[in-house]
Amino acid sequence: MKPELGVCYYPEHWPEAMWADDAQRMIETGITWVRIGEFAWSRTEPTPGDLHFDWLDRAIEVLGAAGLKVVLGTPTATPPRWMLEKHLDMLAVDANGQPRKFGSRRHYCFSHQGYIKECTRIAQIMGERYGRNPHIAAWQIDNEYGCHDTTVSYSHLAAKAFHHWLENQYGTIDALNEAWGNVFWSMEYDGFDQIEPPNLTVTEPNPAHVLAYRRFSSDQVVAFNKAQVDVLRPLTDVPLLHNYMGRELDFDHFKVGEDLDIATWDSYPIGFLSDRLEADDAQKTAFLQQGDPDMQAFHHDLYRAVGRGRWWVMEQQPGPVNWAPYNPAPLPGMVRLWSLEAVAHGAEVVSYFRWRQAPFAQEQMHAGLLTPNNRPAPGLAEARGTADTLAGMGTVTQVQAQVAILFDYASDWAWTAQPQGAGFSYFRLVFSAYRALRRAGLSVDFLSSSNLPTQGYKVILAPGLATLDSELEQRLSGACDLCVLGPRSGAITHDFQIPKAGRPGLSRLDCDVDLVETLPPNVHRGVIGGGAAQHWIDRLSGTGPDLLSFEDEAPALKGDDGLWYLAGFPDEALWDRVITMTAQQVGLSLHQMPEGLRRRETENHTFLINYNADPVIWNGHQIGACGVTILKKDAPEER
Ligand code: GAL
Repeated sequence: MKPELGVCYYPEHWPEAMWADDAQRMIETGITWVRIGEFAWSRTEPTPGDLHFDWLDRAIEVLGAAGLKVVLGTPTATPPRWMLEKHLDMLAVDANGQPRKFGSRRHYCFSHQGYIKECTRIAQIMGERYGRNPHIAAWQIDNEYGCHDTTVSYSHLAAKAFHHWLENQYGTIDALNEAWGNVFWSMEYDGFDQIEPPNLTVTEPNPAHVLAYRRFSSDQVVAFNKAQVDVLRPLTDVPLLHNYMGRELDFDHFKVGEDLDIATWDSYPIGFLSDRLEADDAQKTAFLQQGDPDMQAFHHDLYRAVGRGRWWVMEQQPGPVNWAPYNPAPLPGMVRLWSLEAVAHGAEVVSYFRWRQAPFAQEQMHAGLLTPNNRPAPGLAEARGTADTLAGMGTVTQVQAQVAILFDYASDWAWTAQPQGAGFSYFRLVFSAYRALRRAGLSVDFLSSSNLPTQGYKVILAPGLATLDSELEQRLSGACDLCVLGPRSGAITHDFQIPKAGRPGLSRLDCDVDLVETLPPNVHRGVIGGGAAQHWIDRLSGTGPDLLSFEDEAPALKGDDGLWYLAGFPDEALWDRVITMTAQQVGLSLHQMPEGLRRRETENHTFLINYNADPVIWNGHQIGACGVTILKKDAPEER
């Protein structure tokens, strides 16, 4: 596959007289894809049924005639104001019972059938008009499901849909009462229609109720997306995609992805380090203008799995953004580095957000490749430089990694339904595992439980996997030589109860959990020989061998030849030890990476990616500050 560049463009924001010049400059920059239309509903249908697609016809023609391939978005993330007059109750309702107002975007409830019909109607109109247009080379459905905390709605329509969903799941109300343990606090129901969404309860609601509501809310996103897929499929032969966000776990992306052809996501490295990553001050300062060295790669690898191999960056940060607490500019080289890093992880297209900075409305302080008055912004030259590098590089082919992480959205919902301790999360645990693998220079794949290979990995890590039955445990073991579970793996059943027969992974190791402790962030439980566990400790007992022990001699890691169980949330040093031990057991070569330098292998290249503001020397190669060195596989990695 030969990677390409793209850009997000809003023809409705600019005079028509500028379009042809814009298209020409995109081509000169080395851009071959352009995404348009995803927020343009108020201009294509200004009043109900009054369709104005003439301007969009011309925009597509101008862009296409210049040689650009167009991704056309359905505009359903931004229902126009008149939609609210037609559907008075279409707004999502927040946990405090307040409808979320018009005036920004994503203002709809996924359970509103009237709005879903409006979405399929506009998708049908657009599909009929553009489905066979030769310039339309992909469709984006909606934009960033879940962003701005919009997956879960507590509306009366969501409540009604939840009743049906529950009836389908449980069949009878007695089965639900039993499964949820509703005898506790006399919470038993007489009928499904008595069950409300789990907000505004006096104290915490039943976690089984919360987890069911999270599963239901995720399924509503899947159904919403599928409604548009079903309309567009017969009208076009080009790929359908959705554009996802970073660290967005509120719905099951794997399930949405099953109905689509490509997964794309939005990579804002500096914004993310500032607004959604737990990192200490030193880390936030060292990488202030580069972003966290593992955050982008984590999502690249995750979305490669969501897209079943086919994925893009739809929105690549090109300069300062507008939405983080602080918005520094990328250091010179970073826009190119982020782009090439995405390519190393298999991106088919890296598309910048946005072409020209908008001089109005919410994102007027968000950089584009051009300034608001049409001069080149610093990102433009880096996009051009990336295009030159790509032209000289040829094809990039992905290979299966030797290690993988099982990622499970429902585990995050379970962890948040009953955190049991503040300041840590499923994402943090999985991300800490991912970082450890990357410090060891490994390329990593993500897997979902519904799509496990039958064999082929040396190691699979499944940290924090809340629900694990013996069937999944066997499939996991079959897929790899060594599977590492824990902590908190298999801790609850599907209906949020402690498994009566013990945790499946642990019973294979002849051990069980005596108690669980959670700890404040500054408390560490040392492990003999180095490293410590923090946040969460499963106190294990049993006859199986201890591979590592805490300083009080309690087991820290238990295991046999093919299955290990980690009894705590490892700190960096403990993760490093565990990864080294797995490598020794299964014969895996590790490459210790310096801080900020990361390595990614493809079939024909090894990419060395330096997030540091200074050059780094590694194995005889000098990798420039904020630079990428690409080694051909036929040349030795060590000099
Ligand atoms: C994304 C979104 C874009 C734009 C961008 C700004 O989350 O998809 O529409 O808002 O952020 O960084």
